[in-house]
Amino acid sequence: MNKKKLGVNGPELTGIGLGAWAIGGAWTFGWGRSDDKESIRTIRRSIELGINWIDTAAVYGLGHSEEIVGKAIEGLRDRVYIATKCGLAWNSKKKIRHDLSPQNIRNEVEASLKRLKIETIDLYQFHWPDSRTPVEKSWEVMVKLKREGKIRWLGVSNFEVELLRRCEKIGHVDSLQPPYNLFRRNIEKDILPYCLENGTGVVSYSPMFSGLLTGKFDINKPAKDDWRLRNPEYREPKLSENLQRVEKLRPIAEKYGKTVGQLAVAWVLKHPAVTSAIVGARRVDQVEENSRAVDFEIAPDDIQFMEELFPVN
Ligand SMILES: NC(=O)c1ccc[n+]([C@@H]2O[C@H](COP(=O)([O-])OP(=O)(O)OC[C@H]3O[C@@H](n4cnc5c(N)ncnc54)[C@H](OP(=O)(O)O)[C@@H]3O)[C@@H](O)[C@H]2O)c1
Repeated sequence: MNKKKLGVNGPELTGIGLGAWAIGGAWTFGWGRSDDKESIRTIRRSIELGINWIDTAAVYGLGHSEEIVGKAIEGLRDRVYIATKCGLAWNSKKKIRHDLSPQNIRNEVEASLKRLKIETIDLYQFHWPDSRTPVEKSWEVMVKLKREGKIRWLGVSNFEVELLRRCEKIGHVDSLQPPYNLFRRNIEKDILPYCLENGTGVVSYSPMFSGLLTGKFDINKPAKDDWRLRNPEYREPKLSENLQRVEKLRPIAEKYGKTVGQLAVAWVLKHPAVTSAIVGARRVDQVEENSRAVDFEIAPDDIQFMEELFPVN
């Protein structure tokens, strides 16, 4: 699998990284129950297939995703970069808050290292902005954690350009993790150009719009507590409209001998600012299919057709 450097100073990442959100199992923003044994097999298979990095977060399953990733990479640590996130903390009643206070970041990094059973986190990212803490105070802690050897590269997720600029003044932002897929193209205007200009790598999330862009989405399959059932994009009347649009991608995918999901991921990867796409999976067959989404080119006229079908919103 081809690799690309994350920003100017980062590691060489494969075109896709494995997203471990769904592996976290059931919680407020979960995907329903998960099968831990299958999750571990999925992670190990993805490494075997050549995927060289995994994205998780402390909050996914309130620690559970990190624990599963930690178990799965035992004996394989030298073959995989680990990215995780902080800033969504929970209390004893499982209530989640945005918290990028220096103390919370320090608490979270220690807890993540323990759950992942590793010495250093390769890419540590702020999950979401925290309006109550000046971002400079939070970013200073990240710079110190790097000096202390707890983390290697520094990233943020769901940040706008203004926040990226404020962090950059204190220490280089190695990566941004934004949502990016055919349905969500708004970052093309300001955010992706900013990242290209400033040497900030982009690891984009939800390349298949959390399942809608796979060409196989069936609304009867998600568990009752799957977060997607509460999102208007996955409910009628939007759902049928979205799926009809996705269906129009099928003939193009077939032309390349690819699935609709593979085509959707390949489209994300063609943007020069994008380093890698984080593709979520919780089963071995999914990761086997997804790993073949890389290293093929979509012809310009097909890209044009796709982008007219899914215009910038
Ligand atoms: N920073 C953030 O705020 C943020 C937000 C969202 C995501 N992320 C990261 O990005 C990762 C990926 O995003 P995502 O999980 O939302 O979306 P995604 O990669 O667009 O879609 C993943 C989902 O699509 C389905 N799927 C995967 N492979 C498939 C296949 N081969 N055939 C059919 N269906 C398939 C699975 O759903 P089923 O299992 O239900 O079939 C899977 O959970 C996450 O795991 C997480 O690491 C970060």
